[in-house]
Amino acid sequence: MIIKTKNEILASEITDPSIFKERRKIIKALFATLVSSSVISPNRVLAANNNSVWNNLSKGDFSNNKLTPTPAELIKNYTNYYEFSFNKKDSTELAQHLKIDPWSIEVTGEIEKPGTFYLEDILRQQVLQEFIYRFRCVEAWSMVVPWVGFSLGNLLKTFKPLSSAYFVKFTSVHQPEIMPKQQNNAMLEWPYVESLRIDEAMHPLSIFAVGMYGNTLPKQNGAPLRLVVPWKYGFKSIKAIVKIEFLKRPPISSWSKSAPGEYGFYANVNPEVPHPRWSQNSERQLGSGLFTPRRQTELFNGYGEQVASMYSNMDLRHFF
Ligand code: MTE
Repeated sequence: MIIKTKNEILASEITDPSIFKERRKIIKALFATLVSSSVISPNRVLAANNNSVWNNLSKGDFSNNKLTPTPAELIKNYTNYYEFSFNKKDSTELAQHLKIDPWSIEVTGEIEKPGTFYLEDILRQQVLQEFIYRFRCVEAWSMVVPWVGFSLGNLLKTFKPLSSAYFVKFTSVHQPEIMPKQQNNAMLEWPYVESLRIDEAMHPLSIFAVGMYGNTLPKQNGAPLRLVVPWKYGFKSIKAIVKIEFLKRPPISSWSKSAPGEYGFYANVNPEVPHPRWSQNSERQLGSGLFTPRRQTELFNGYGEQVASMYSNMDLRHFF
């Protein structure tokens, strides 16, 4: 995959912003015409909105068809998005104000090819697949999500990391005018930042998601682009990413800064290492009935076979 940085693009190749906007208008108008002229019936459009934009995607290497996805409505209405609210329902509603189009991502640091890229240019060069993964929140609830996305490692390699790039830092969008909690530093310092070791970021399980359930990602779940690292607690899976930095030294992520004794850099799912205020031994599966037993939490959220070797010489109690 080749991504051109702004510096490498010839002036003649750059789409004039007015043409770019015009093109978008044309696509929208074309879509409206198709609907009104019943080339596509409104019902089919409704079905497409409700059901799928992407059909028959191939499956990512570690996607597990045997897992039963959590009902989409639950995942969409029970979100952690602290920029908007500390309440899982309110964050869902308030996130609808997020402006996600156009969207660009700045890529900097220890790499040969820095630049700022439109998301649509990034997507054009990636193969979208479906990844049915477990997702375990540090709050001891879990779900199974059929993400639509692409390999994070494949994207990162295109920026040509230098041998000095040991960590990758991700930064979420900063839109204080519509994100009430960003108006002060309540709970966390903003913008939300997270980070991975470079080998973790390059691991084939790590993905960038742009959709779920065959549809585009709902705003409250991290649209237009979020990280998904299924063997780590959910707070590592940062939403609405606008910046990627390749670093020599480990950055301090938002949660580690706010409560270093509770949220470590690694955040690998581990039933043997309790959170200081609760056990991590079991989890409530989203959507399970009142009398359904809790699920026994697995080391690395069940992905040990794939990832344990990355931590073989480490004391996981110390590096939690
Ligand atoms: N990313 C941003 N920018 N802001 C957040 O508050 N919450 C994290 C993570 N990514 C969060 C975030 C936490 S704590 C979890 S558990 C997951 O997103 C929740 O993802 P979901 O709301 O799609 O279930």
